[in-house]
Amino acid sequence: MTYKPKLFVKTYGCQMNVNDSEYIVGQLIKLGYSTTEDIFKSNLILLNTCCVRAKVEQKIYSLIGKIKKIKENNPNVILGICGCMAQKEKENIFERAPYVDFIFSPSQVNNLEKIINTVKYGNLKYISCENTSEFSFNHIPVKRESKISAWIQIMRGCNNYCSYCVVPYTRGPEQSRGVSEIVSEVKNLVKDKYKEIFLLGQNVNSYGKDLSQPATFSELLELLNNIKGIERIRFTTSHPKDFSFDLIKTIKKCHKICNHIHLPIQSGSSKILKVMNRKYDVNYYMNIIKEIRNNIDNIAITTDAMVGFPGETEKDFMDTLRAFKEIEFDEAYTFIYSNRENAIASLLPEKIPLKLKKERLWKLIDLQKEISAKINKKLEGEILEVLVDKKPKRYIENQFSGRTGPNKTVVFTSKKNLLGQLVKVKIIKSTAWTLYGELIE
Ligand code: SAH
Ligand code: SF4
Ligand code: F3S
Repeated sequence: MTYKPKLFVKTYGCQMNVNDSEYIVGQLIKLGYSTTEDIFKSNLILLNTCCVRAKVEQKIYSLIGKIKKIKENNPNVILGICGCMAQKEKENIFERAPYVDFIFSPSQVNNLEKIINTVKYGNLKYISCENTSEFSFNHIPVKRESKISAWIQIMRGCNNYCSYCVVPYTRGPEQSRGVSEIVSEVKNLVKDKYKEIFLLGQNVNSYGKDLSQPATFSELLELLNNIKGIERIRFTTSHPKDFSFDLIKTIKKCHKICNHIHLPIQSGSSKILKVMNRKYDVNYYMNIIKEIRNNIDNIAITTDAMVGFPGETEKDFMDTLRAFKEIEFDEAYTFIYSNRENAIASLLPEKIPLKLKKERLWKLIDLQKEISAKINKKLEGEILEVLVDKKPKRYIENQFSGRTGPNKTVVFTSKKNLLGQLVKVKIIKSTAWTLYGELIE
């Protein structure tokens, strides 16, 4: 047996990064590496990083610090840092950790063969952070984590410059992948028996505007909906300012598009939304929700929101609580505002003390938990269609989990291996996060 050098990859951040890591692993396997989950046995360590909030960045710096020991014990180990923090921190990383060998930005993720060869053949301390002109994964090998649901980046970057956010600086301007490249990727996934595709972009609603032959997100969805063999289509993230009635019609018309929309509200105060540069107010947001619910039955709506944005008064926070009560999201990802020095909001004076931010966060989490539990309780007794995609992490014999169209996690038992199948489950119990049921044979 020939010896294969071992690759250890750790991924932080959003689904975009998870999918980037799948391309990283795919390319390195082709270059002769095999993967390991044991960092101490690896020859090449790659950290695919995130910096959307300060906490994750501190965590990554601390891991880079610990890897110093590994490099001291075995100087042949190569350490690379990629992802959003690599782009943002570039030289700072080399300064704080001179033993890092190379750094590349998210836009270079399809260029790994060149990067690794440059690093391996002597040119250490390599930085590759320029934005390549075209966004394409054509002919780039990929090693997907799931055999059932596949992430597909349809665009990268962001033009919105929300005042708190670092992403436009780390992922660059919006760039769409060509329609025909996406369609052929999905056709190949059908050949590999994938059941679900999950389209990714920071703002999928503005897909296609920059293409030499412009297309809209709705047009792309319709094309993908017509591909035989794919059962479900999901997408994230939608920006309220670009959420069109045309898209609502498309979701209603195309039966493979799941009844789930992730629509970050960020705050329930129009005053704060304005300073956040979100380009909509609370009324506008509420109207979209109304349109969505009036037109699409049984639609789940989830959101992102943050508390403690500079200048957020008690009244502004109450407005967020009120919006949550009125809208009743199925689920919410809630965050404490984190100061990012690249983003403009870092210059705002009225910072909120951490203690108060934490109190507000817990109030919001408690409220959402109540709402999610109430919504899920109503599903008890119903028979739902579930795409079985996992054995739960804490493995219990014969237990499986899957998701409904509206993206609820359903746990049930079965003697047969049902991974990858669409099954019917009768819901018998629920919590704020999970539904439990019995398989209907
Ligand atoms: N493009 C997506 C989200 C990208 S980041 C969108 O516009 O919705 C995911 C979430 O992280 C954001 O929705 C926001 O709620 C949160 N986030 C981004 N920057 C943040 C910051 N500086 N502090 C706290 N949360 C932040
Ligand atoms: Fe960040 Fe706003 Fe772009 Fe989302 S839309 S990635 S929050 S700048
Ligand atoms: Fe993080 Fe970059 Fe995603 S900052 S959330 S990995 S776009």
